[in-house]
Amino acid sequence: MRVPAAAIHFPDEDREEILRQIDECLRTGQLTLGAIGRELESEFAAAHRVDHAIAVSSGTSALEIPLRVLECRGKEVLVQANTFFATAAAAVSAGADIRFIDCDPATMAMDPAALEAAIGPNTVGVVMVHIGGYVAPSVLDVQRICAEHGLWLVEDAAHAHGSSLDGQMAGTFGVAGSFSFYPTKVLAGGEGGMIVTNDSHFVDEAKIYRDQGKASFLTNDHTRLGYNWRMSEPHAAIALSQLRRLDEFVEHRRSVAARYDEAFADGPLRPLAIPERSRSNYYKYVAFLPPEADRGMVKKRLREEYEVGLSGEVYELPLHLQSVFEPWADGPLPGAEELCARHVCLPVSAVMTDEQVDLVIRGVNEVLAS
Ligand SMILES: Cc1ncc(COP(=O)(O)O)c(C=O)c1O
Repeated sequence: MRVPAAAIHFPDEDREEILRQIDECLRTGQLTLGAIGRELESEFAAAHRVDHAIAVSSGTSALEIPLRVLECRGKEVLVQANTFFATAAAAVSAGADIRFIDCDPATMAMDPAALEAAIGPNTVGVVMVHIGGYVAPSVLDVQRICAEHGLWLVEDAAHAHGSSLDGQMAGTFGVAGSFSFYPTKVLAGGEGGMIVTNDSHFVDEAKIYRDQGKASFLTNDHTRLGYNWRMSEPHAAIALSQLRRLDEFVEHRRSVAARYDEAFADGPLRPLAIPERSRSNYYKYVAFLPPEADRGMVKKRLREEYEVGLSGEVYELPLHLQSVFEPWADGPLPGAEELCARHVCLPVSAVMTDEQVDLVIRGVNEVLAS
């Protein structure tokens, strides 16, 4: 592939430092819940301008832990339909009864009007997702609706490391935010996740859940139905190294996005419009194909004729149409269905070259012209 759909970036000096830290873990035997994890938590919290960060085993556990802390068992949680499986699955695992909410295809975010209409007597909270790393201004409407109805808001910020709206960081609009360090993400940690919150009670509870529901690290007193959701020190070392490059990674991704914006300003592809006040990390560069274009064919031709890999959609099929969620599906959600069917994600990475960007632009223009 001349342009892979995504690429991770660990410069030589970062790899050396990660190996040095892992060697130190092996020497001391401090292999989990140690000093590197605490350093990662404190630097992640600072980078996201939030009081607390709790490192966990994955983005999925970074969602399930807050939902358990919020005691949603047997209660209704509203989840947007255009998201990854884990957003809803974490709520189901935490015991919630979920309901899917439509999105606004113009922003990809949860549609505030659809949210308000769906609130019922058993609803306790909302999980909103910053798709592709874009914090849509409508998060403020969702926040207001939650406050007016006494609901909590959890943000699935798995895509949104370092993204912000009006200078406020993703993950800080509700009671807690959840991030993922899965290798395709802007920060690749191998595996891992992070919970952020400004609520210190929440931190204590999340740490109990993270470590088998134990009241404290050294006791054998299990007070909550937790799990092994710990982050190992080698994983923390990898994520910490990536976190220290977050600004640099986001700057580069934004420069790639700016070139796409300019190239496609007059069509034929229509980029997702992101207002100035929102600073996306461009985890994904989302754009809409003309109605007559066949997405599968466009992707195939780009791959075969130009060696350009488009990255995975966010998402190809909304959750209410996934067979596993059939019991929770209650009718069509046209916004999510239209959005999922029509968009593509152009390749973006922290190491993409100008020549690669040129090739993507040429390939897209030529394929869509013929
Ligand atoms: C929106 C969203 N939520 C949650 C997750 C789960 O994260 P992880 O794979 O780290 O468990 C992912 C990604 O994989 C995601 O894209």
